[in-house]
Amino acid sequence: MFPRLAAVSVAWLATTAFAAAATGIDETDPEDRRVIRDGFGPGATGAFQGRQGMVSSASYHATMAGLETLRAGGNAYDAAAVVQFVLTLTEPYASGIGGGLFVVAFDAGSGEVITIDGREEAPKDFHPDVFRREDGSLMPFQARRIGGLSVGVPGTLAAIAHMLETQGTLTLAEALEPAIRLAHDGFIITEPFARSLASHYARMRNHPESIRLFSRPDGTRLREGDLFRNPDLGRTFELIASHGIDIFYRGAIARDIVDAVRNDPVQPGLLRLEDLNNYRPVRRAPSRARYRGHDVYGMGMPSSGGPTLGLMLHLLEETGFHEKPFGSPDSLHRLFEAQNLAFADRNRYMGDADFVDVPVDGILDRDYARARARLIDGDRALETPVDHGRPQDAPGGRQGRLNSKEGLSTTHFTVVDRHRNVVAVTTTIEQHFGSGSVVPGRGFLLNNELTDFDAEARDGEGNLMPNAPEGGWKPRRTALGDDSRTEGGKRPRSSMSPTLVVRDGEPVLALGSPGGSRIIGITLNVLLNVIDHGMDVQEAINAPRAIARNGPAEVEAPFYRNRNLISELRGRGFDVRNAEAFGSVQAVQIDGDWLLGAADPRREGLAIGY
Ligand code: GLY
Repeated sequence: MFPRLAAVSVAWLATTAFAAAATGIDETDPEDRRVIRDGFGPGATGAFQGRQGMVSSASYHATMAGLETLRAGGNAYDAAAVVQFVLTLTEPYASGIGGGLFVVAFDAGSGEVITIDGREEAPKDFHPDVFRREDGSLMPFQARRIGGLSVGVPGTLAAIAHMLETQGTLTLAEALEPAIRLAHDGFIITEPFARSLASHYARMRNHPESIRLFSRPDGTRLREGDLFRNPDLGRTFELIASHGIDIFYRGAIARDIVDAVRNDPVQPGLLRLEDLNNYRPVRRAPSRARYRGHDVYGMGMPSSGGPTLGLMLHLLEETGFHEKPFGSPDSLHRLFEAQNLAFADRNRYMGDADFVDVPVDGILDRDYARARARLIDGDRALETPVDHGRPQDAPGGRQGRLNSKEGLSTTHFTVVDRHRNVVAVTTTIEQHFGSGSVVPGRGFLLNNELTDFDAEARDGEGNLMPNAPEGGWKPRRTALGDDSRTEGGKRPRSSMSPTLVVRDGEPVLALGSPGGSRIIGITLNVLLNVIDHGMDVQEAINAPRAIARNGPAEVEAPFYRNRNLISELRGRGFDVRNAEAFGSVQAVQIDGDWLLGAADPRREGLAIGY
């Protein structure tokens, strides 16, 4: 299932078995495993090692461009900007300037964790019944996801420009150079690109510009091994390099975006020029949780990622999770329940905190976690869906719903530089190929991020749910500094979880993943493998994952094949299901002087450093 996993595991077993025989070290003891690994040097499990800089992304070309930026003297913010622009080209189905992103970064100069919210936002004309038909019925998801209606104001370009201006050393034009070159020269389409296109080509059939971009000259879809050039995107980037982001948010490109959305042949949308004019990336405070001596920072609202992950960690600490061997029934039992409980609160309470009150402090309160963790029974699974809790100040209400279609595409990358700036970015256009609409003549896809709102906007009493679609603009009350006085549209709840782990004031791990609402559990699994199970970051990524979202308990195949494990969990009452590979984690671990870069074998990621 995971070709690299097999290779890596065999190599790891060989080296550890040799070490154990030679030293008497117990490879099942996390501390000893550190010794074994150190004895062979960092990277013995397949992580790429370096001391100066490291880039891990899901694209060869993006990683290499980021690495060249670092080697030429750029910092991690510069390299992150370069990576994002190249990804717009090489993973056009997953992220790009037509979408949105979150940055969580450790700033070496100030020692602070910063976050940048470049999430898409709803047009001013949006409203809670936007996904209802005239007869009052809800539009099916398939109808919501294609065309202009679910296109949010793109935030990626504004956020990257802001990051460069405030933290970087390159100009926007310099950061665009590698992507411009590659757009004109082209690159070879790899299997994941071709596979994704094969699955989504048909749904773009009513968007001729999209079909043109992703077709061969003979009109058939591009295949693995084809050379893909995107001169339209190259020219778009050249215009942005010459005129700055104004051309995208106010000028000719803005007009083309609005035109494409409002005149969409499948589903016209509500976006106006004033929505683009008004868009601002927002600096916000990170969410912070404590787990066994580590500070775990993440993205707060409008991402549910950071606070939900934080609650899961607090719950797990209460259950003594770290004492349970990796992959044991007791370990998975706790892992599932912590995720179930945290998802109950996420679904009920979380949404854009500039529009609704979200009890984040209550959710991350240790006493609250202690009380909720008492629900976890070591012998029996909780019945799902578990009821949400009542974190302090939180109103009661009905159980929120899981939007299980959230974000099946998306991509994550992580960059570390020689100063030890650490930049973790999760970036998306929501579904694979977003709304399916390429802006004519501009070479990039528009997102369908507004499907991340709950289409069913109200509870039984007619009250708006926290993640309901809403229109209008409100002050950015949770923004830092002057930004809190500006006004903007509602941003749909995300699960994206760029995550930074800090120990004694120093960053030790940065990671994130695509995977829709599974992103949070995916990130949790990898983080626990490093902190509790003593794995290095590559081993932690390769290991099978166990996910729950207040429903079935999903496991990857290596767990599912363990019959004793599965029958024990089923005996405890878990509805265990075998699921396909989850996510694609790109991470960097910082181990003293060493940087260990790791990419996920589940996708074609690549980590390289020097
Ligand atoms: N669209 C993926 C997410 O924001 O969670």
